[in-house]
Amino acid sequence: MATQQTDTRPITEEADFLKLKAFDHVTLWVGNAKQAAYFYQHALGFTPVAYAGLETGNRKAASYVMQQGKIRLVLTAPYHPSSEISAHLMVHGDGVRSIAMEVPDAQEAYDVTTGRGAIGVHSPIEFRDENGVVRVSAIQAYGDTIHEFVERSDYSGTFMPGYRPIEGAKEAQNSVGLAAVDHIVGNVELGKMNYWVNFYHQVMGFRQLIHFDDEAISTEYSALMSKVMENGNGRIKFPINEPAEGKKKSQIEEYLDFYHGPGVQHIAMLTDDIIHTVTELRSRGIEFLTPPPDTYYDEVIVERLQEKNVNIKEDLEAIRKLGILLDADDEGYLLQIFSRPVSDRPTLFFEIIQRRGSRGFGLGNFKALFESIEREQELRGTL
Ligand code: FE2
Repeated sequence: MATQQTDTRPITEEADFLKLKAFDHVTLWVGNAKQAAYFYQHALGFTPVAYAGLETGNRKAASYVMQQGKIRLVLTAPYHPSSEISAHLMVHGDGVRSIAMEVPDAQEAYDVTTGRGAIGVHSPIEFRDENGVVRVSAIQAYGDTIHEFVERSDYSGTFMPGYRPIEGAKEAQNSVGLAAVDHIVGNVELGKMNYWVNFYHQVMGFRQLIHFDDEAISTEYSALMSKVMENGNGRIKFPINEPAEGKKKSQIEEYLDFYHGPGVQHIAMLTDDIIHTVTELRSRGIEFLTPPPDTYYDEVIVERLQEKNVNIKEDLEAIRKLGILLDADDEGYLLQIFSRPVSDRPTLFFEIIQRRGSRGFGLGNFKALFESIEREQELRGTL
């Protein structure tokens, strides 16, 4: 079986021209930010730390900044039908509008990327308050998704000027142990994967980490192809998926049909105790994909661990009970689980991942994962 290819070439300094520091935040445009904030707090363990809206003088949109570990999600809902947010919602439903990354210089990031062919959304806008200054520029990514470049080294406030901190926010009380964004996956149309791989390479200075071909990622019914792009310091990873020919409709096509175009498929979030995190999430009502059959735990995992000579620290019975998936490679292993879509449309979902040495993406689980998604597609009548 053709499986995966790993590109281990070091990034040349020349390629690391963009100087991205890390994920800064992810903005979701939603229909009702207040209710979404309740879900992200009480089900997913985030803490609302800042707010903007009518009370802060913003007449256009309400935003809640949700924090857990280093993960920052901004939930934004429009006040007016003429807002570009409303137009976005009409087409896509709730979804990710922006993947924002921190940079040392928002002007430079904008100039460099647009100079290399990116479509500019806006050149740096400066926001000031008594805590300092934040500069933000933005370029177009796949579909209606954008990348914002956030320069915040001269800012000491909670999030950004224009937002008021939420008093008494107690992160430890809400947290389920999610610590950071591991990777964010984009679904693009058939034939467009390499276009976006080239975009991340040539415009953003990323390198290709892994390539999964459709033979590696196929089931009886559907297939996809995926390439993982990574920035210079390795903190930002963007897998890009495109559908491949299968007997029935692939999950990527289902996404594209319901999101009405390319967009963010899932956000993977790191934990250092997945058993605790998933136990908490389940008890708070988060739904995960149907667990794989017993043979997965009795045979697949056992063989995989033996083959890679890996001993796991976790209790296999607890992993089975929670429906957590496991994959091993030469560097170690990883544990992962995928939520069901978090809106009515089968679009955005979350992955919870714990890495113990492995830098992979769970290739060994793709088949189990897909079969699980297909069972649910069948229930939706979209397979
Ligand atoms: Fe993932």
